[in-house]
Amino acid sequence: MLFPEGVAIDGRSGAVTPETGRYVKRLSELRGLYQDDESLQRALAGGDDPVVYEVIEYRKPESDICFGTTIMQPGKVGDEYYLTRGHFHRRPECGEAYYTQSGEGVLLLDSRDGQSSVVEMRPGVCAFIPPEWAHRSINTGREPLVFVWFCATDAGHDYAEIGARGMRKLVLERDGARTIIDNPSYAS
Ligand code: F6R
Ligand code: ZN
Repeated sequence: MLFPEGVAIDGRSGAVTPETGRYVKRLSELRGLYQDDESLQRALAGGDDPVVYEVIEYRKPESDICFGTTIMQPGKVGDEYYLTRGHFHRRPECGEAYYTQSGEGVLLLDSRDGQSSVVEMRPGVCAFIPPEWAHRSINTGREPLVFVWFCATDAGHDYAEIGARGMRKLVLERDGARTIIDNPSYAS
């Protein structure tokens, strides 16, 4: 039987104590997701491969719920802000919550029935992600964006669809300001 415990979450660093696992995504692993592939190649050409985000988990396979943090670094590829891959949950009935701890960003959501939505990510806002909505987070600030996520342990991730079609919106910096546009290369 599992035993209860308090898990400390540092809202600045995203540290989860105790944690059960973590992974890092570097820019080279996000090829094909940014609109400006030349800028991405140029960013990698110097030999640097920056960390774009890190995920730290508290996941007990015997439990139905799990949670963790995502720590997104600030940065851009061309004029497009750093983003996560974006996914649907494999189990269609599974939603999620993202509770922002520090930094600022946006959560882009695309539904299976053709809608899109944007939720601001700022400290104190808990974003509700309903089932059947793909979600991608984007750091639009100058500091790390740190949020806590909660979902079903076996929700699963389907990256293929967003990887192939993209999302309906892009988040860019234009004239120094955050701008959300329709994705011109969205494959509907
Ligand atoms: C879990 C979830 C988050 C993301 C994380 C990285 O369902 O939504 O933990 O997995 O923010 O984003 P992706 O997985 O899209 O690269
Ligand atoms: Zn998710």
